[in-house]
Amino acid sequence: MNGIALAADTGGSGQLIAPHGGVLKDLYLPPAEAQALGARIGDLPSLELDTRRLCDLELLLSGAFSPLEGFLGRDDYDGVVRDMRLTDGTLWPMPITLDVGEAFAAGLARGSEVVLRDGRGVALAILDVQDIYWPDRLHEAQRVFGTSDRTHPGVAELLDRTGPVYLGGRVHGLQPPVHPDFPELRDTPRSLRAWFEDQGWHRIVAFQTRNPMHRAHRELTLRAAEQVGARLLIQPSVGRTKPDDVDYSTRVRCYRALLPHYPEGQARLSLLPLAMRMGGPREAVWHAIIRKNYGASHFIVGRDHAGPGKDANGQPFYGPYEAQQMLERHQEELGIRIVPFPAMVYAVNRDAYIPATEVQPTDEVRDISGTELRRRLREGSEIPAWFSFPDVVEILREQHPANTQ
Ligand code: ADX
Repeated sequence: MNGIALAADTGGSGQLIAPHGGVLKDLYLPPAEAQALGARIGDLPSLELDTRRLCDLELLLSGAFSPLEGFLGRDDYDGVVRDMRLTDGTLWPMPITLDVGEAFAAGLARGSEVVLRDGRGVALAILDVQDIYWPDRLHEAQRVFGTSDRTHPGVAELLDRTGPVYLGGRVHGLQPPVHPDFPELRDTPRSLRAWFEDQGWHRIVAFQTRNPMHRAHRELTLRAAEQVGARLLIQPSVGRTKPDDVDYSTRVRCYRALLPHYPEGQARLSLLPLAMRMGGPREAVWHAIIRKNYGASHFIVGRDHAGPGKDANGQPFYGPYEAQQMLERHQEELGIRIVPFPAMVYAVNRDAYIPATEVQPTDEVRDISGTELRRRLREGSEIPAWFSFPDVVEILREQHPANTQ
């Protein structure tokens, strides 16, 4: 039940990388036990989870958050908030917590069991309540996100849409959350690792994204794969991302359209039901740990990874390479190798994407920001072929018909 131990290896010698903490968790109950529990769950208090909590639960249950076995109790929470460490010393940068209201918490005690349900009332897991505590959410925001400015989406969620009481404890899965869409692109760490083994892939570089992918992304991912001699795992976050992002169904259609633009057999697309916090450097460490659990030996971190945009004074919350620096500091301990990238820009005179660090005074550089792209889609104006692939642009145009149409 507790999972399998895998050899510590970064993929060079024909073995997949070991999961974070050494053991890939599997928190689902065996079917007979789940069925036996099913008979009495009607008598237990139950909690309906929104998208963020559901995503967290799904990734806990499947082992994507290994070595976690549930929502953080007080001591682990304090350690994670303070210095990114669980009480046993394991590096873990993001508090994975289950918040509730005062009234709900008042009906519970240590040892209570709570049924965790999806939005349609389906019972997905049982939480063994081991801890009930009142966090200082302002302190959490300051430590985890480095700010209490509500312009930061992670801070706004934490301060304005999070209950005042946290429940800590082990979760026991009854059944996985149901995703009727794109079932063929969804994997657990186990199923993806099995696929890698089957294909003989052991050096794998993972790419995180929450945006449609254009030429710059293809260039960056291809260069990364070539640089480290690895296959490519495109693993976009399709849980909750930043408000205003392109919806994930459209993005998945874009990713699919992009796949034929990679050399055959070199890239694999797999969707990650991650609820991002836009936590910049801390989030980047979290992303790397998750990808390690899915079997990736390398992880791409470019400019402004998981960046939340600008603060109330128009200043960026994090430096563009802060995420890379944070990861590099923890590189040895993490095991997964970081593949850092500077901003990729288009040089008109070369008709090629190049790292910003290689730009010469003679180069004429172009870029189209996300805001600019949205404007062009809205107005139906040109999106040049140097920026994106026509089949990707067509999908975006279908989804965002111009105002004039
Ligand atoms: S993120 O929130 O998931 O980081 P995004 O989808 O924009 O946002 O970026 C995914 C990854 O690609 C991140 O590692 C980011 O740093 C990198 N990236 C995106 N665009 C560029 C670019 N033009 N140059 C360098 N890195 C980039």
